[in-house]
Amino acid sequence: MLLLRFLGAVGSLHIAFGRVLAWIYRKVWGPCGLHWFDHRFDLLRGPEFWIWQERGVLGMQVISPGAKILDLCCGEGFYDRMYFAERARQIDALDMDGNAIALARALNRQTNLRFFTADVVEESFPDNDYDVILCFSALQQLSRTQLDRLLPRIRTALKAGGIFFGSVSLTPENDLLRTEDQVRPEFAAYFHSVELNCSGWPNGRVECYFRCREMSVDRN
Ligand SMILES: C[S@@+](CC[C@H](N)C(=O)[O-])C[C@H]1O[C@@H](n2cnc3c(N)ncnc32)[C@H](O)[C@@H]1O
Repeated sequence: MLLLRFLGAVGSLHIAFGRVLAWIYRKVWGPCGLHWFDHRFDLLRGPEFWIWQERGVLGMQVISPGAKILDLCCGEGFYDRMYFAERARQIDALDMDGNAIALARALNRQTNLRFFTADVVEESFPDNDYDVILCFSALQQLSRTQLDRLLPRIRTALKAGGIFFGSVSLTPENDLLRTEDQVRPEFAAYFHSVELNCSGWPNGRVECYFRCREMSVDRN
């Protein structure tokens, strides 16, 4: 019992130290102006702060065993590495930020997970027969022109019956996508089936999850 109490005390200290590191990281991260976050520092914020893992848990629900996945705007690849690679046959993960991709590659131990530095609007995708295309917390960073270029290409890169799944982070500061009502027509222009499910975070952020499907895709 004494040993368990000792381990509990060390565990609490460990969590407290992690919280301090995460606090410092967030203070430094802000002024750096990065568009992506190293999610290892979310882990260090402690067990109460779990909501950021929604993306991993909800993403898993659309990935069948053996699926071929494209993750657009993957950041440092936390969710690919910790969640999706376990179930998928192959994941191609793209981000235009070379620093994010360098970290993603350094942390990656999965052989079915490949990271590419690429602008997803301007550059071709590695393949065009994906079962699922993911894109979390990134579309709100795109302009009108960029969205109009990207969404039809996503539809074309999906296999028939494939799923486009991800989230848009809704904040009043976003240029285009500030509310659920603004998100729906963007997807409905390209996909027959659009389901939205918004999640309010304790810090006021609203993460709007989308699940889009196009049953018959004309590839001509
Ligand atoms: C908020 S982060 C989200 C990262 C990751 N999806 C996640 O949920 O942790 C948004 C990411 O989108 C990337 N991004 C924005 N525009 C992009 C573009 N045109 N091509 C590729 N990546 C882009 C940024 O570099 C950034 O890593």
